[in-house]
Amino acid sequence: MTNTHAFWLAGRPATGEDTFDVTSPWDGRLVGAVSVPTESQVEEAVAAADAVRAEFAATPAHVRAAALDHVHRRLVERTDEIAGLISAENGKPVKWARGEVGRAVSVFRFAAEEARRFNGGDAQRLDTDAGGVGRLALTRRFPRGAVLGIAPFNFPLNLCAHKVAPAIAVGAPIVLKPAPATPLSGLLLGELLAETDLPAGSWSVLPVPNDRMPALVQDERLPVISFTGSGPVGWSLLDAAPRKHTTLELGGNGAAIVLPDWSSDEDLDWAATRIAAFSNYQGGQSCISVQRVIADTTVYDRLVPRIVAAVEKQVTGDPSDPSTDVGPLVSEDAAKRVESWVEEAVRAGAVLLTGGERKGASYAPTVLEDVPRDTRIGCEEVFGPVLTLTRADGEEAAFAAANDSKYGLQAGVFTHDVQTAFRAHRALEVGGVIVGDVPSYRADQMPYGGTKQSGVGREGVRFAMEDYTYERVMVLTGLDL
Ligand code: SIN
Repeated sequence: MTNTHAFWLAGRPATGEDTFDVTSPWDGRLVGAVSVPTESQVEEAVAAADAVRAEFAATPAHVRAAALDHVHRRLVERTDEIAGLISAENGKPVKWARGEVGRAVSVFRFAAEEARRFNGGDAQRLDTDAGGVGRLALTRRFPRGAVLGIAPFNFPLNLCAHKVAPAIAVGAPIVLKPAPATPLSGLLLGELLAETDLPAGSWSVLPVPNDRMPALVQDERLPVISFTGSGPVGWSLLDAAPRKHTTLELGGNGAAIVLPDWSSDEDLDWAATRIAAFSNYQGGQSCISVQRVIADTTVYDRLVPRIVAAVEKQVTGDPSDPSTDVGPLVSEDAAKRVESWVEEAVRAGAVLLTGGERKGASYAPTVLEDVPRDTRIGCEEVFGPVLTLTRADGEEAAFAAANDSKYGLQAGVFTHDVQTAFRAHRALEVGGVIVGDVPSYRADQMPYGGTKQSGVGREGVRFAMEDYTYERVMVLTGLDL
């Protein structure tokens, strides 16, 4: 018998009338049953968030920082258990799940540090014009109001952390909606928040089904939306609530660009190893996994066999086995979609160098060459363990190929040359350029987000804190300056 997991309503555990099951994508076993909040319970959580706005914004920084520090310490203490939970509900290999817990630890630690130094205020003299003599402007940031955080399934803990920790750091109430496929990690985060002294109402974790999301999105008591997930859903939220302050972290088809100077055997071995690992980590279900390799023609023929060999070395199988690199996708339907996209590309002339097989929810690490641009793999985000290889003639052509995408999240550029790095930084239409590594590198304190169809706004602890707040100026008059 599996216990039903309560949800968190204004900081306390509650149960509704219905439940749904969370099952493992690896073997279909029941991981947990989750209680679904009723409409009146959702109303209670939103009303509580709205009501506590002023009190929470006025909470001293040391109280908010202490709560964030508590969560980071508890995540450290419970790492093994939480990694097991992430792996069970998401199918993520336990080695990557442990990495995810470690990142969530950092997010809460950074948020505690930022809470202590945020909002020191800025003073500006106004006597630069005759009308401002004796006047001084003081600027501080204040929360815009309660935040609606909507998290995806691919990082069930850390992307919840990226919504919740900055909100607590600035004193903004948050209503978190975890992904229906993977709500248990977000609910466990609630367990740790419940051990703190944060005001009742300042946080709720509501596992409501997606078809009830529009009501939350429209609710004016939640003026800020932070969404991570698919493009169509994200843009539809913006269309539904255009006046809200919305951050969208959407998809990408990350490019790893290998330039002519990255040419020693050691260089190419490193690039191939990194590309193979990060096109397949979490079954390729990351917005910044490597989907496209664009290699200069001078290194292409030596790089390709290395990539294929490194991809074939990826250990596939049971996500609970510590040696597994690649587990299942989140569902059999997801794996079937990837399968159909690869088949479409092959029918259109792509060459399959390895992989291309599906078993249940698992899809084999796959490498394709000569993929036509107008196939879905050629222009959409595959969100699966599939890599495409393209030859480019020179740096400019490589950058143009990387930019030939409706997405612009991150790009990796393998070069040793600092001038080339600066040219890449200028030329590539993305939110982040990683030099000497794959596009999949993300440090949780740095600004993270995209351009073009990859979204709007930035996460990364301090950047989300800025996003959740606005500048309010106070002008002091009659001063003897
Ligand atoms: C994402 O898939 O959007 C997040 C990637 C990450 O945090 O590493």
